[in-house]
Amino acid sequence: AANGEVIRLPTPAAMAAEAAGRIAAIAEAAVADHGYFAWALSGGNTPVATYRMLAQSPWRERIDWGRTHVFFADERFVPHDHADSNYRLAEETLLSHVPIPAQNVHPTPITTPEASAEAYERSVLDFFAPQPPRFDLVTLGMGPDGHTASLFPGMDDVGGGLVAAVHNSPKPPPLRLTMTYRLLNEARHVLFLVSGADKAALLEQIAANADTPLPAGKVVLSERPVVWLAHLSG
Ligand code: 6PG
Repeated sequence: AANGEVIRLPTPAAMAAEAAGRIAAIAEAAVADHGYFAWALSGGNTPVATYRMLAQSPWRERIDWGRTHVFFADERFVPHDHADSNYRLAEETLLSHVPIPAQNVHPTPITTPEASAEAYERSVLDFFAPQPPRFDLVTLGMGPDGHTASLFPGMDDVGGGLVAAVHNSPKPPPLRLTMTYRLLNEARHVLFLVSGADKAALLEQIAANADTPLPAGKVVLSERPVVWLAHLSG
């Protein structure tokens, strides 16, 4: 595949196990290489099984949570305790079950969309400084319209920044924050977790075509293929 390596899994549990194994291996390699593991994760339903698996043995013990830093590839613009919050989802399914220090979790501030986007960009830059911002891993989902993070089809101008405010998301809620292609495409690894029969044709199209205009297909890395884990049978 031009844009990535597609790995098909027979069940949601098999996909979660494959994802957990890859995330743990990337975390170990990152800590061995530079002393920390910087991970930007996503919301949605698909990653929940993976988050729950990482919160259990043997994955829980395999990851060095003290050196793990969690950021949010996108966030719904709601309070952190709101049912739609990606931060809340990650807390409930993973972070509250593992020994990650509170200061290693980097939720987006929720003030006004533009101010929050700017502040989050600043905290990403500060975290990596003096190096340019480069996540060890970004885990992403894909919607049935080809969106990823909160980058939607037709939303071509997300500005020149690393984090953008989104005002008209077709997937509720309409207000969101998202990392931009510019930031996502600097990552060392990108892992998509995709489930649902409604996404099969789209995944074929994106994996086969290097020039797709769909958002998920615009996430590309220079050093290695993007990896797609897919459970598409229903
Ligand atoms: C969000 C997401 C979004 C999601 C896809 C797939 O916060 O809404 O980050 O990009 O990953 O919509 O969602 P599902 O996994 O639920 O299909």
